[in-house]
Amino acid sequence: MSPDSQNPTKATGDAASDSKPASAVSAPAASAEAQAAVVSGAGRPQPDPEQPLALRSVREQQESPRRTARKILVLGATSGIAEACIRQWAQRGDALYLVARNPDRLAAVAADARTRGASTVGSAVADLDDTAAHPELLAHAINGLGGLDVAFLAMGVLGEQSQAERSFSAAHQILHTNFTAPVSLLTWLANYAAQRHAGTLAVLSSVAGERGRRSNYVYGSSKAGLTAFVDGLRNRIDRDGVRVMTIKPGPVKTAMTEAMKGSEKFADVESVASTLVKAIDRGKDVVYVPGIWRIIMAVIRAIPERIFKKLNL
Ligand SMILES: NC(=O)c1ccc[n+]([C@@H]2O[C@H](COP(=O)([O-])OP(=O)(O)OC[C@H]3O[C@@H](n4cnc5c(N)ncnc54)[C@H](OP(=O)(O)O)[C@@H]3O)[C@@H](O)[C@H]2O)c1
Repeated sequence: MSPDSQNPTKATGDAASDSKPASAVSAPAASAEAQAAVVSGAGRPQPDPEQPLALRSVREQQESPRRTARKILVLGATSGIAEACIRQWAQRGDALYLVARNPDRLAAVAADARTRGASTVGSAVADLDDTAAHPELLAHAINGLGGLDVAFLAMGVLGEQSQAERSFSAAHQILHTNFTAPVSLLTWLANYAAQRHAGTLAVLSSVAGERGRRSNYVYGSSKAGLTAFVDGLRNRIDRDGVRVMTIKPGPVKTAMTEAMKGSEKFADVESVASTLVKAIDRGKDVVYVPGIWRIIMAVIRAIPERIFKKLNL
């Protein structure tokens, strides 16, 4: 069964290489090496979604000295799954731009990526729930990278099912972080990539989105919505030369699942990352990881509802 089912609550960079186009991008108080931009949309109106991102010209981007490395943006860079992918991308010398909301953990992930050999590491501290800040954040990241080959969306919350059953605001928080905020990010990113006929958008959804279950249907519904959105987006822009990937992990050993019963048997995050790094290189449409979850979920989907509702899943 999905890892996401049972659980209780669980809820920086070569800034020098970044352009600093945005007035809301302020310098942090940390040392120069550990600095990350801080992007916040607080107090500003929602951006006009019809407007393009405020990017440097394509010519300026192409003049970037970092043309050979893959340019990878990681949204939710302190996620256990993302961190393991970042280690592998760094080791092969890719250019990284990392976004997370915890400045200290972000600085540690960025420093580790530099040590492992990433060709550049830019970063921004941002609460990704803040959709008003997304266009500025994304423009800053793409300008910092000098283009974009891959955007990897890894943020997410499990939330607490029992709390979400009692309180709409708790349910809404899960839906916002796991569905609404990714929809905002992907809308901006998809339009950017489609205009350039290039890029891969890789999104961590979950096997939990494949069937509503009593133990985690709020989280599951947020992932079901995300899966449907990402699948539809792929069908819209694949013909424009943009790869859109729906990634459905089964249970993986990360902070999100560590309090779950039996979590010691969950998939190893390094092996999950190896599968994902290869799948992202190939731009696969739908990835179950570990692959056995494709079969497990086919069986779970086939159980008749009259039986399913009596199970304690
Ligand atoms: N682990 C699994 O078994 C599993 C299975 C299926 C799907 N997934 C999905 O895979 C993704 C990564 O999960 P994981 O296992 O790596 O869990 P994780 O280690 O708990 O990572 C989740 C990340 O999302 C970040 N995040 C949450 N809300 C955010 C916000 N508003 N702004 C910025 N960052 C935010 C968290 O930051 P903070 O640490 O600062 O809170 C954390 O870094 C999630 O979407 C999850 O739903 C995981």
